[in-house]
Amino acid sequence: GSMLVSGIQPTGAFHLGNYLGATKTWHTIARKLDSSSQMILFIADLHSLTVPQNYSDLKKQRFEAYASLLACGLDPTKVTIYHQSAVPEHTQLQWALTCFAGMGSLNRMTQWKAKADLKGDAQIQNELGAVKLGLFAYPVLMAADVLLFNATHVPVGQDQAQHLELTRDLVSAFNKQTKTKFLNYPKTLMAPSNRILNLRDPSKKMSKSDGDELSKITITEDGKSMRTKIMKATTDSIEGPLTFDPEQRPGISNLITIYSATTNQTIEEIVPKIKDLSKRDLKELVADAVVRELQEPNRMYKELMASPDLLHKLSVEGAEKARAVASKNLKQVYKILGMDMEK
Ligand code: TYM
Repeated sequence: GSMLVSGIQPTGAFHLGNYLGATKTWHTIARKLDSSSQMILFIADLHSLTVPQNYSDLKKQRFEAYASLLACGLDPTKVTIYHQSAVPEHTQLQWALTCFAGMGSLNRMTQWKAKADLKGDAQIQNELGAVKLGLFAYPVLMAADVLLFNATHVPVGQDQAQHLELTRDLVSAFNKQTKTKFLNYPKTLMAPSNRILNLRDPSKKMSKSDGDELSKITITEDGKSMRTKIMKATTDSIEGPLTFDPEQRPGISNLITIYSATTNQTIEEIVPKIKDLSKRDLKELVADAVVRELQEPNRMYKELMASPDLLHKLSVEGAEKARAVASKNLKQVYKILGMDMEK
């Protein structure tokens, strides 16, 4: 059977990119799971510590994130859903893996540079001293998250592919150095949708941390504000038929991508149908599709947030289920490393 594992950070409400790049796909996969397969999803709260936070907000956001996952239709009786920090085996495995991770390969990861706001190489050399170890080592925690369950598949959006390559490199280093084959090579299961871009500045991806509220649509906002944001999305001044051209027309192409992912049609199917619309009419069409798609998550989120006791109970149960698997695998890894208590 397959073991599917993935995670999402709790900082800020889930946005349309998270939904189309991750949670919607997870939901589709979860519905089709056979009885020999398992799916494990967690709120990656430890990952949120890699950048400064308001820690009392973070506590609240962890539960909002938990409710958001359930609101996307994921059923906690079929899928194991929990908070990463409630399963200490994540960090125990991370330590072991950091001892196999090369500084050079971590240095090649692009995401920490963006988060540390470092651009050119020279600046990186200068400011490396200020970069937090946790941010730099973040991909090793992500590898531990996956390897802790010996995942066969990791369903993610495109921006996480590089981290999963590092994960496979770590598996190779670990297995080679310990002369074992205990750790599996997890496959990346890429979301069918392209990256969803920032609505105001389509040269960037849609991101939780963007301060401009108009840049993203969250699954928890009301339909009216979703519509307003889409109507205000940046497009271009090119005249004539609408075309899908991510290089020259990132704004229009992003709207087409969103329309494609929310209506389950391919880009090729859509383009002939919309090419003669005005930009305004395209936006109306996309707004209708987004509002329709997010209506149910939106309703369920409100309902779940009104039941904090239920959320708490489910997350405790989820952590217990995850720990049962995690502790067994961790023991095996530590045993391979000579760290067991047997005589
Ligand atoms: P995070 O929290 O940034 O994003 C969660 C998921 O949403 C996808 N995503 C997007 N997809 C399309 N367009 C976008 N604009 C967009 N923004 C985000 C991401 O690809 C991801 O699948 N490091 C991870 C969390 C993590 C994890 C893991 C994932 C921690 N441990 C182990 C898989 C396995 C992260 O920060 O995702």
